[in-house]
Amino acid sequence: ETRVRVGLLGCGNVGGALAELLLADGDRIAERTGMVLELRAVAVRSLSRPRAASIPPELLTTDAQAVAADPDLDVVVEVIGGIEPARTLILAALGSGKPVVTANKELLANCGTELFDAAAAAGRDLLFEAAVAGGIPLIRPLRESLAGERIHRVLGIVNGTTNYILSQMAAHGASYQEALAEAQSLGFAERDPTADVEGFDAAAKAAVIAHVAFGARVVAGDVDREGIGAIGADDIVSAHRLGFVIKPLAVIEEVDGAIGVRVHPAMVPAAHPLASVRDSFNAVFVEGEAVGELMFLGRGAGGAPTASAVLGDLLDAAHNLTVGGAGRTPALRAVPRRSIDDLVSAYY
Ligand code: HSE
Repeated sequence: ETRVRVGLLGCGNVGGALAELLLADGDRIAERTGMVLELRAVAVRSLSRPRAASIPPELLTTDAQAVAADPDLDVVVEVIGGIEPARTLILAALGSGKPVVTANKELLANCGTELFDAAAAAGRDLLFEAAVAGGIPLIRPLRESLAGERIHRVLGIVNGTTNYILSQMAAHGASYQEALAEAQSLGFAERDPTADVEGFDAAAKAAVIAHVAFGARVVAGDVDREGIGAIGADDIVSAHRLGFVIKPLAVIEEVDGAIGVRVHPAMVPAAHPLASVRDSFNAVFVEGEAVGELMFLGRGAGGAPTASAVLGDLLDAAHNLTVGGAGRTPALRAVPRRSIDDLVSAYY
């Protein structure tokens, strides 16, 4: 049995669900994996906010920097989100020799190279399964199971809010505004819906996928992006008549040695597996040379599904620590990028 002391930075939706899992289910996890995950500190912005009753109040602190640098912790989990202070805290944790698990797509999509370099220099893991498509195991399959695969293209429905909106418009004739309000009340929309409906959330995830699937250095701002705001009920009906479903897609592909990364609503043939991915579900469809076609489907948002992905990473980081280091990180390569205009002319 190995004891692993865990520090948690952030205790919102995902952090709270993870804390619950560790506290309520720790014995079963230990029995199953041989790892005792001891939650030792939880950094929060305010001590007065109500929390899940199961979190012992003595674990809470507002000093996130002290948790990140604490030599008595073995692993740090960052679920604060956003660029700062998350970036500084992750660098501090890696700098003090601790592996880090993060769910932070925005940070990875903007400062990924710096953080992965810091992890490599420290010889520690920086794991991020939860950053893309929440609970769906995607990053580990891409970077481990498919490490040697020649991937041609990845197509993803990686934003639950926009998939929900378009699905509701198609199935019930809901208006865009009604569907957005429902998505917000169901709790998977970002606080600022612009990030969802304008494609910023999907663009950050697409940049992370480009890194893992193709080793390409792509930042969020490189991604060609179009939101779903211009899609009306008429478009959905016309697409349907022609045998298509309109889906919010992220497309990451290699064409003639260059990488194209874009997010936009797209007409998907009704017979394609992605066409049946409804409501707030996410799915990622991978096309590879040897493996052929694969699809990963599940819950891309929400506290518990995302915490499940964080837990898997936590166990992996803990395991890698016991064998003295870090797991595999795919190498980055210099690969040119293709704009969407460039790709259109390559196709037609
Ligand atoms: N707002 C995001 C979504 C949450 O709707 O998919 C997960 O990143």
